[in-house]
This record gives sequence, structure tokens and C-alpha cells, in this order.
Amino acid sequence: MSLQVQPLPGGIGAECRGLALDAPIPDEVREQLYQAWIDAGIIVFRNGATSPEQQLRLSRCFGELDVHPVKNLVTESDYPELMVLDSEDQARQMVLCRETDPDDHFMGYIPWHSDLIFTTTPNHGALLRAVVVPGQGGHTAWIDTIAAYDGLDEALKRDIEGLEVEYRFCNDLTRAKYGKDPHIHKVSGTTNFPEFPPVAQPMVWRHPVSGRKSLNISPLHLEAVVGMEEPDSHELLTNLVDHVTSRDFSYVHQWQPNDMVLWDNWRTLHSALGYPVGERRVVHRTTISGDVEMGRILAA
Ligand SMILES: [Fe+2]
Repeated sequence: MSLQVQPLPGGIGAECRGLALDAPIPDEVREQLYQAWIDAGIIVFRNGATSPEQQLRLSRCFGELDVHPVKNLVTESDYPELMVLDSEDQARQMVLCRETDPDDHFMGYIPWHSDLIFTTTPNHGALLRAVVVPGQGGHTAWIDTIAAYDGLDEALKRDIEGLEVEYRFCNDLTRAKYGKDPHIHKVSGTTNFPEFPPVAQPMVWRHPVSGRKSLNISPLHLEAVVGMEEPDSHELLTNLVDHVTSRDFSYVHQWQPNDMVLWDNWRTLHSALGYPVGERRVVHRTTISGDVEMGRILAA
């Protein structure tokens, strides 16, 4: 069966079918997969891989693989390039609740972000495989920031061209300035993340492979527009966060075991929507290295 790539029904991302992962992937199929990833930004493989080896084989079609720099977010695995995210080992992570339902505790919620956008070398991509799916929740959502840029009106595109945004690593999502749900509160949990210096990133970024422009607004770590007075910066960023996170540019994946989703981190945001405390969730993740310098480090 040959590889088939079809746009997802909502118009954001694509689904790939007909991929055999139980044997080496031929060069022409690798090239097709790479091009589909660049073209669509988000690729869904339903019932895609049944083992870490198969996931690693697919992941290597897209570049060199990385290990995640934030070690205490992941569980050790037998494969250095495979990160295991297991709810049982993540019992230290934050437990949250919504103010409308204070006794309904959940975990695993991460607001909209691009990975490592608070550094000058964000990873190019990542691939998740669902191993154990919770009975409720655990969905993951993506936003295509090229579609979000294309959806801006022309005057706003001109106004933001050349601006830079400051990102700072946010180690407590309940204190993020942008993109958090104000009705979510922390029940328990502490974090112990390393420090990162603040960076300035171009607000409009030209993708180094496709040449297409994206709206580089990653809410979780967003701080300010560089060199702009706070009231103006806050107004502009609030409008842009509302625009990029509107439903028009997003895709939500409801996992089945062995589903995989691959994303181009240089042009997408993602958010983990969380699941109830007591549910088990195991996800295997591989990360595709970023070989492009993006933005600059700001003096702390
Ligand atoms: Fe992430």
C-alpha cells in the first residue's frame, strides 16, 4: 500500500495512512514524509507504531533526535532518544482544579506553547505516541501559526513586521502572564526547573525550510514586546494571543493506543488538556533537533 496524506477535516494538519513501520523506510517514502511534515505542520498517524523501535525509525526520517533538557519532566527509558511520560512517575507534578469544580482534581495540563521557544535553538519537531490512554481526558491540541499569520489582516501584518517578543521560561503555569485559563488553580505540587536567560524572538518568523511566515506568539512563556511601553505591549499581545488561540487554527487529537502525532515545532503551538487524577497515561515522545539559531539572548 502506498503512502497517502490527506488534510484533516478541520483544515489544520494532515493524516498519513499506508505507512509500514515493521521494515526499513525506503528513501522515497522518507522524502514524502518529510515534505508532508513541512507542508502540513501536524501529521496524525492512527494506530501508527507498536514499539519504541518503530517510533524511533519513523522519527529519524525528520532529522537528528534530541534528549529533552528539562530532565525532571520525563521518566528514564532504555532508549536515550525516547522520553517516557508516565503519569505514575509524574505524581510530583501539579494537581489543578477549576474554580467551578474545586473537588474535581486533574493533572497533566500544559497551556499553549512551542517547545523551547524560551531558548535560541527550539527543537524542529517532536512525535508523540500514546501507549496507555486515560479513560477520560488526556487530549492534546495543536495550533498552526502559519495559518494564524495568514489569518491576520494586512494592516496588522505590516504593524508587527520587524517586532520582537520576549520569552521567559515560566516554571509555574498558574503564574503565566498570557494564555492560561484564569479559572484554573493549583491544588498541590511544586516544580524544580533549571533557569534560562530571557530571549528575544522575531514576532513574525520565516520558516527556514518552507519560507512561509508564521505568527510567533507562544503564550505560556510570553513576556512583552521588546522595546514597547507596557500598556501598548499588553494590548497587542492580548489581541494576538486571542487571535492565535481562536479555534480557527487548531486541531484536537483524542488519542487511541498507538496513535502518533508529529508536529513541526517551528510553526505550531501545542497544549496538553489534562486528565483526572487517578487515571493512568503513558506517552512516548521523540524530539527532532533544531539546527537553526532563532532570536537572541537578552541581558537578564
Ligand atoms: Fe511541549
